[in-house]
Amino acid sequence: MAATLVTPTAINPLRAGMRGTRTIEPCVVVVFGATGDLTHRKLIPALYNLALEQPMPAELSVVGVGRRPLDNNEFRQQALDAVDKFSRRRPVNPNVWETFSRGLFYCQAPFDDPDGYVRLKNLLDQLDRDRGTLGNRIFYLSTQPSYYPTIIENLREADMARRGRPPGSGWARIVVEKPFGHNLESAQGLNDLLSTAFREDQIFRIDHYLGKETVQNIMVLRFGNGVFEPIWNRRYIDSVQITAAESLGIEGRAAYYNEAGALRDMIQNHVMQLLALVAMEPPANFGADSVRDEKVKVLRSIPPMREAEIVADTVRGQYGAGWIGGEHVPGFVEESGIPPTSRTETFVALKLQIDNWRWAGVPFYIRTGKRLTKRITEVAIQFRRPPYLLFRDIGADKLQSNVLSLRIQPNEGISLRVEAKVPGQEMRIRPVNMEFFYGRAFGVEPPEAYERLLLDCMYGDSTLFTRRDETELAWGLVDSIAHAWDHPPATGIPRYEPGTSGPREADTLIERDERTWRRL
Ligand SMILES: NC(=O)c1ccc[n+]([C@@H]2O[C@H](COP(=O)([O-])OP(=O)(O)OC[C@H]3O[C@@H](n4cnc5c(N)ncnc54)[C@H](OP(=O)(O)O)[C@@H]3O)[C@@H](O)[C@H]2O)c1
Repeated sequence: MAATLVTPTAINPLRAGMRGTRTIEPCVVVVFGATGDLTHRKLIPALYNLALEQPMPAELSVVGVGRRPLDNNEFRQQALDAVDKFSRRRPVNPNVWETFSRGLFYCQAPFDDPDGYVRLKNLLDQLDRDRGTLGNRIFYLSTQPSYYPTIIENLREADMARRGRPPGSGWARIVVEKPFGHNLESAQGLNDLLSTAFREDQIFRIDHYLGKETVQNIMVLRFGNGVFEPIWNRRYIDSVQITAAESLGIEGRAAYYNEAGALRDMIQNHVMQLLALVAMEPPANFGADSVRDEKVKVLRSIPPMREAEIVADTVRGQYGAGWIGGEHVPGFVEESGIPPTSRTETFVALKLQIDNWRWAGVPFYIRTGKRLTKRITEVAIQFRRPPYLLFRDIGADKLQSNVLSLRIQPNEGISLRVEAKVPGQEMRIRPVNMEFFYGRAFGVEPPEAYERLLLDCMYGDSTLFTRRDETELAWGLVDSIAHAWDHPPATGIPRYEPGTSGPREADTLIERDERTWRRL
């Protein structure tokens, strides 16, 4: 009988501390889409890094499911190449790899072939016997979303979903990648289908932003620090800006991106999750449902946007051709696979309100886009200005307000902008930043988001995964914007130059309120 392992509290001090010790049971991680990009770039390296840094059960096994004819050795070689190329920790440790790779298996099974699921089931049963995986499985859907329904139905029909199993007789969990639906209706349809096979507590809808260290640190910062907790409200906060900027274009994902656009690709999931964490009330504890209940309350407090508000408070744009980083890049509609008439947005800016006691009157400005000046994701809390009466004579109107900036990527960390006196005889004032970088403060780079999330899934902890109601509420908001944009269909879309901070219309949106975007 396999032993369960006690994990060090360093993995997740917040929740381990709140709930006592957590244990990982032996299990098999079944990755649908074994030869795909996400599997190679993120999942296999994350599992290897967990094996390297955490006390994982020796029985942990991974089964890749794909349509190509590979044997176990070929799959292991592909996995080694992936770790060699993409792992956070390199070079590969031969001893750890030796043990880890013995737990890697491949199952050839086209997703729509029921016989493939019989083969998969037999393999999993055999691993239970040979490796002691106790009937526990994580099914990871790392495939094109159009395959999700087929895989879910086949898992249900092959009796692998284990919905009604009594505790202790083997569990099944399913991880669903983004995008989770294309609109509210399809997300509801997917949720309905999932619920025919799995209970809600078996379903792990992944949003990898939630696995990032700084995102989790939002809760520690807000609720663990006496200096911030009392001022986190409309009385002291002027406005909040959430930016998720990328300098890259669509990087070969033309078909997906042209369908999705920035609103569905970024706002519905990552940005709304950041907003909910920044704005939520303190949860009663750090249990999955307590935290998610609070996030849902925030999403419910965003009033539906009427058409006139959508016209006034949202901006979309599309990148044209131009120069970025000394390189000439094509415009969105010149990218391979994008129709020249496409009006898909590669940039969105919007202003949202949260109608509750804490946030009434505090605007949340959001922007996301591709081919912008640089890659940065941050939440910036802009505080109200003090009266400045004392500094009137030295140009108090030029003083800047304090900004607390939570940098999600790159260089995860926090900075606080304060005004300070410039050394010298005169009274001159200049903003300075108090900085905290994860790497520098703790001497280690934070783990990859996928490591944290896979580990949490093994624990059965869904705090950092989105619940059905969260997903649907966020889709409701995004749908209303998308619908207004399409009715009547726009004849054009504002263009912006690559390497800039987006279309001019986005500046107008915020300048109307006598505020400006933070410089990228
Ligand atoms: N890539 C990323 O960075 C990223 C980031 C966030 C989310 N995601 C999401 O993760 C999911 C996977 O993305 P991806 O980029 O890894 O996709 P991908 O590279 O296209 O991989 C898809 C995988 O599915 C397999 N496959 C396709 N059709 C199959 C079939 N009929 N039967 C069996 N196997 C089949 C492919 O096998 P073949 O090799 O034989 O084609 C491949 O292994 C998507 O939902 C995506 O939105 C990806």
